[in-house]
Amino acid sequence: MSVLPVLCTLALLPMPREFTPGDGFCGDPAKIEYTVDRSLPAEGYTLNVTKEGVRITSATPAGHFYAERTLDDLKADGRLPICRIKDAPAYRWRGLHLDESRHFFGKQVVKRFIDRMAALKFNVFHWHLTDHQGWRLQIDACPELTEKGSIRNVPEWKRMRPREWLDVDAAAYGPYFYTKDDVREILSYAHARHITVMPEIEIPGHSLAAIRACPFLLCPDSRDKLDKLGYRCATICAGSDEVLRFYEKVLDEVCALFPSVYIHTGGDEARKDIWRECPRCQARIKKEGLKDETELQAWLTRHFADYLAAKGRRLVGWDEILEGDALAAGAVVMSWRGRKGAIAAAMAGHDVILCPEQYCYYDFRQGLANDPETYHGKSRQFAPVSAAMVYSFDPCEGIPSDRRGHVIGAQGNSWTELTLDEKTLDWKLWTRAAALAEVLWTSPEKRDFSAFAPRLEAFRAKLKAKGVNVAPFADPSAMPSVF
Ligand code: ACM
Ligand code: ZN
Repeated sequence: MSVLPVLCTLALLPMPREFTPGDGFCGDPAKIEYTVDRSLPAEGYTLNVTKEGVRITSATPAGHFYAERTLDDLKADGRLPICRIKDAPAYRWRGLHLDESRHFFGKQVVKRFIDRMAALKFNVFHWHLTDHQGWRLQIDACPELTEKGSIRNVPEWKRMRPREWLDVDAAAYGPYFYTKDDVREILSYAHARHITVMPEIEIPGHSLAAIRACPFLLCPDSRDKLDKLGYRCATICAGSDEVLRFYEKVLDEVCALFPSVYIHTGGDEARKDIWRECPRCQARIKKEGLKDETELQAWLTRHFADYLAAKGRRLVGWDEILEGDALAAGAVVMSWRGRKGAIAAAMAGHDVILCPEQYCYYDFRQGLANDPETYHGKSRQFAPVSAAMVYSFDPCEGIPSDRRGHVIGAQGNSWTELTLDEKTLDWKLWTRAAALAEVLWTSPEKRDFSAFAPRLEAFRAKLKAKGVNVAPFADPSAMPSVF
């Protein structure tokens, strides 16, 4: 009996690189033999399902792990179709990001998030732990960061929220943060699933929670303007050596806790107007021979890139870190404002991770009619980030062919200003994450949305059976242009 009709109903996702279906089903799915073949690509594997049993071959434990995930996908009603698979991912950075500053989800939600990532063969969890709305990581050198910084400042939340946040609860919220033991628990959970956890500590902007907890982080002349200006003066002072030492201590603890080579230090949307009026910031500009405040941010980024490099780590930052002056060698650029940052970074010899808003922002609308959820207002500037749109994403588009080696991969971002709980997070994320998983794993010539759609439907059915609130996806041909 041909297994092809069965395969159409399987959540085989992402689709393996080479897949040869056979006839009938395996007589003994529990009989699994493993072999090592060092000539296979890292993370690659072969899977041979015969009448008699299963053979998995891989070069690394990660390849073995992904072969087992594919077996999970192949099994339907306990039956395992006979087939041969040769597989390896297209990209080595297959990431998902979660913002736990705006809303905090906690360990159990994060573990389920990691489970779903692993099922889709994602391998980097980008953990956004600090921002204006909350500092979520225990730092022993500065207990105030979590004692004060992990509690919502309600008047500020009310005053600063944009129109679409009006429904979002403005009540007291917190203290919510992760202790180091919590983090170790998450790290070991992720490690067992071949997922690297990259923490993000925002420097110099998006820092209001840290500044509220430790006012010395702000330019001295701006401290009395905090209540009036709020987010508009939420950039730390780049002229103060005390501030540099403070963040070095924070990064010392972050590096001691997180084994990831990649450490994200933010760098996006840092408002620099207050630096113009700060004698310390201006003195730094003069002393270092910098042209202006943009070069001052570049100087600060280089300082922390060098600091991390001395510990064997690589700084990752949003594409604003390209502005101003030469970026430290080895720093990695995360291109979110379209692809311009990725192209410029690759041309300058930096590794890049793509996450352009048009394809990778899952707090943006997904093109559904009658969607019960509220999405980020900015997403109205773009076509909906539908599953089909995500599926059409080519991380290498626009990058000259001799620079494509710098494109290490891409990731989807879950910003959570308007995502209060796991139910909403699941709705906004997993349908689109499934499309991104295939973009990052399956070679472009194998991608076809009409062949993907039934497998996505099977994946959704599997999640629904587990009680996950997973969104439907719009048929691209039926999608009204107004969405
Ligand atoms: C960003 O979305 N501000 C990186
Ligand atoms: Zn200053």
